[in-house]
Amino acid sequence: MPSRPKTAQETRDAFLAFFREKGHEIVPSAPIVPQDDPTLLFINAGMNPFKDVFLGTGTRPYVRVADTQKCLRVSGKHNDLDEVGLDTYHHTFFEMLGNWSFGDYFKREAIAWAWELLVDRWGLDADRLYVTVHEGDEALGLGPDSEAADLWSEETSIDPAHILYQSSKDNFWMMGETGPCGPCSEIHVDLRDDHERAITPGQQLVNKDDPRVMEIWNLVFIQFDATKDGEQTVLAPLADKHIDTGMGFERICAVLQGKASNYDTDLFTPILAAIAETAGLKAYDDYDEADADDKRIRVAMRVVADHVRTLAVAIADGALPGNTGRGYVLRRILRRAVRYGYQALGLREPFMASLLPALVGEMGEAFPELAETQETAARIITAEEEAFLRTLASGIEMFDRTADVVESYRDGGSDEKAYTSKVHVSPRGHVGMEVVPTGPIKAVVAELLKISDSLDGAIDQFVTAAEKGVFSGDIAFLLHDTYGFPSDLTAVMARERGLIVDEARFEELMGEQRDRARAAAGFSMAGEDVDLWDATVDTPAEVTFVGYDRLEVTGARILKTRTVGEGEEARHELVLDTTPFYAESGGQVGDTGRLDVGGEVLRVLDTVKGADGLIVHVVDRLPNDRDAEVTATVGADRRQRIMRHHTATHLLHAALRETLGTHVQQKGSLVAPDRLRFDFSHFEKLTDEERRTVEDRVNALVLQNIPKDEARDVPIDEAKARGAMALFGEKYGERVRVITFGPDISVELCGGTHVESTGEVGLFSITSEGSVASGVRRVEAVAGEAALAWMRGELDELGATRGLFKQLPDGLPLTVEGLQNDVKSLEATIAGLRKAQAAAGLDQILAEAEAVGDVRVATGEIPGADMDTLRDLAETARNRMTATGGGGVAVFGSADAEEGKAYLAASVTDDVIAQGVQAGKLVGALAKTVGGGGGGRPTLATAGGKNPDGLADALGAAADEVRAMLE
Ligand code: ALA
Repeated sequence: MPSRPKTAQETRDAFLAFFREKGHEIVPSAPIVPQDDPTLLFINAGMNPFKDVFLGTGTRPYVRVADTQKCLRVSGKHNDLDEVGLDTYHHTFFEMLGNWSFGDYFKREAIAWAWELLVDRWGLDADRLYVTVHEGDEALGLGPDSEAADLWSEETSIDPAHILYQSSKDNFWMMGETGPCGPCSEIHVDLRDDHERAITPGQQLVNKDDPRVMEIWNLVFIQFDATKDGEQTVLAPLADKHIDTGMGFERICAVLQGKASNYDTDLFTPILAAIAETAGLKAYDDYDEADADDKRIRVAMRVVADHVRTLAVAIADGALPGNTGRGYVLRRILRRAVRYGYQALGLREPFMASLLPALVGEMGEAFPELAETQETAARIITAEEEAFLRTLASGIEMFDRTADVVESYRDGGSDEKAYTSKVHVSPRGHVGMEVVPTGPIKAVVAELLKISDSLDGAIDQFVTAAEKGVFSGDIAFLLHDTYGFPSDLTAVMARERGLIVDEARFEELMGEQRDRARAAAGFSMAGEDVDLWDATVDTPAEVTFVGYDRLEVTGARILKTRTVGEGEEARHELVLDTTPFYAESGGQVGDTGRLDVGGEVLRVLDTVKGADGLIVHVVDRLPNDRDAEVTATVGADRRQRIMRHHTATHLLHAALRETLGTHVQQKGSLVAPDRLRFDFSHFEKLTDEERRTVEDRVNALVLQNIPKDEARDVPIDEAKARGAMALFGEKYGERVRVITFGPDISVELCGGTHVESTGEVGLFSITSEGSVASGVRRVEAVAGEAALAWMRGELDELGATRGLFKQLPDGLPLTVEGLQNDVKSLEATIAGLRKAQAAAGLDQILAEAEAVGDVRVATGEIPGADMDTLRDLAETARNRMTATGGGGVAVFGSADAEEGKAYLAASVTDDVIAQGVQAGKLVGALAKTVGGGGGGRPTLATAGGKNPDGLADALGAAADEVRAMLE
């Protein structure tokens, strides 16, 4: 009796159980970040982790294996990103159920078992299944795969009319442009109702992009290794024949659960419900696909549900959003989700973290790493969303304003429909703009184009294009460049408003930018190639480096020397056939020391790697006798200090991963004799507690005095199997050096020099922690002598500070805080006293007021008064003069010679205002004398200037100024 799994988890289990029965080893999914395939950003098929077995370069302890593999199809040959959300069955992240044979069983079993599982076990209707086989391909030199067709007839009960020959497009599977490949046979299911099936036979819809007649399983018969000869693909037969199958897990769940869409299965419904709840919307199902507005919401919900899965899975496996490579792919996916959320679901705040519990609830059993990293993922995603939302909001506004103008021209708009715009640059450097509907459209266009730095005639181009409903490529580029809009975003937004983007212009600008970047990168290289080497001996490809074991060699030979530059600038370089000097690399600085060349002593100032990989000694001068034997001696003390810091760096790396999580990955480092710097992926500031935990952990590892295990010449695969941490993006050779301090603590691929055991690191102290880039933190630290010196410096400062106090009953921090508070309250007291003093002087100033007709003009300099005090005083004077019959003007000033500033405040009683004297105008006029300006209300105003020396003149001019105003 067939039994059909009901839930997603049951489906996974049933698939794996079936192949276990057939003698397959069941393995967990490999991480979605490829472990050692630089050609691949993300795993995109279940077979990727076994690529080496197919090619015959690797082996496994089994010949039959099955799993569910996490896959992403977002870049390269297999890219479904643009489809996602718009249809019901494409995803960025998906699981691929697969079974593999490594040179064991082949087509017959693969075909028989696929049918057995789908039809006999799970009870799929045989009448609804179609299979395709390869029709052959002349270009590849392959005939039709009638063998597969025959096997389908022999091994299964399929209707022969359901076996279809199809072309290489769908029936020859390749992992990429090159690599393992072979003809394949796909299984499709027809989910339409009987009526429709009667009208159009399923055969006609196979591989025709109909969501109801879709591929569910692909059986690949791997037999070739593809290489490229120019445009031509060349197939070389592999030693063995292999089976590689892939079943779309989300699709089979939909089929088994009787759903028309993958999004209606239990894999997605909890996430969709969480989205609806977060957005305060109706449930996903309550939107009608046939209604355009509803559809927008449904599409957005699907995009978000799909993308949050991708992000969670990728982050769990150590990938982080960033600016390059896979980081950039993730960033784009995240931004796409945010954009859909923002525009269609009204989500203006970070929201994706709120979906993680639903996701982990559904997938956590199959992928425990999701639960383990949930909190981390939430923080990373939220930080990214926050950053993007900030630019998105200004970018969308900019887009809308531009689109308004374009629409206006397209609809035959004239300059009467008017806007003006204001461009502003935020403190963080973001260009934004406001458009106010008043000025002529051309003004807007001019503004828009000005910020995109366009050339003459651009306005006309903009307008001509806009009249045809084309959105400026310059603005699209600006949105990309300044607002970080993914390149497809502007196009989609334009399409939604019935406009099209001038892609050609956009691409042109992108090309120019790439050229600029290339030119900039190339520039610093210029001059490097000047080959001034005087080769005295034939240069071997490599020189012998003995510096891991020794700090001195005798009898070395000079291979070549050169001098670059002249005079003071001259730089002398020298290459030896064997050397103990470590050339700067992997963050570790180069060694210094001395060379004895036939009795002559040269100082080695630095050691670097030459373009050809040779070890180049930078020396203070070149020797007279180049053929003499050389004794090369590395400065031992400095080298020892460097080694302490290098070992400390490894311990720090390990401690960071233990404390913060395994998403911590080295992004860069500096290892010097007096300090180390370590950059790593992490999304927020370390708390004081985390920083202390890390520091304590490193010091504890030092105290354990763990011996170094140094293994040279380890095959890279073996090193990785030992768990060695490699730097992403770094090229490693076939054989590597592995430095281990405790197999469970620190294992790293490393070419640097290290102490013999951790105890030699000595004291370790973190001196600073900060951010270098979004998602990358930097720790600086000191070890050994440097740590001691640093600590001592800190303690000396502390001691000196302590010494300033006779006694410290409350301890230093409280005492200093107490002092700070005392200073604050004293300042307040002084300010109060000044005010009182000024007020007391006020009576006298008023009494001495100069009469200008009926108006009393009182002026006074108030030493030490700030602007607030002057304003208060002017106000008080005004009140008093009003109370004593009006007719008064008061002007006060103060000079701050030290700061080079002068302040003025003036007030005028109402009756005098009526006679034409205004405080704002008065003070503005007087301020010119103190080299400044200002103004304010007619009753009360202030001004400042940069010329304190002019204050007396300014005050002296007040009466005349008033007189002039009265006239
Ligand atoms: N490797 C095959 C695919 O990805 C099964 O379709």
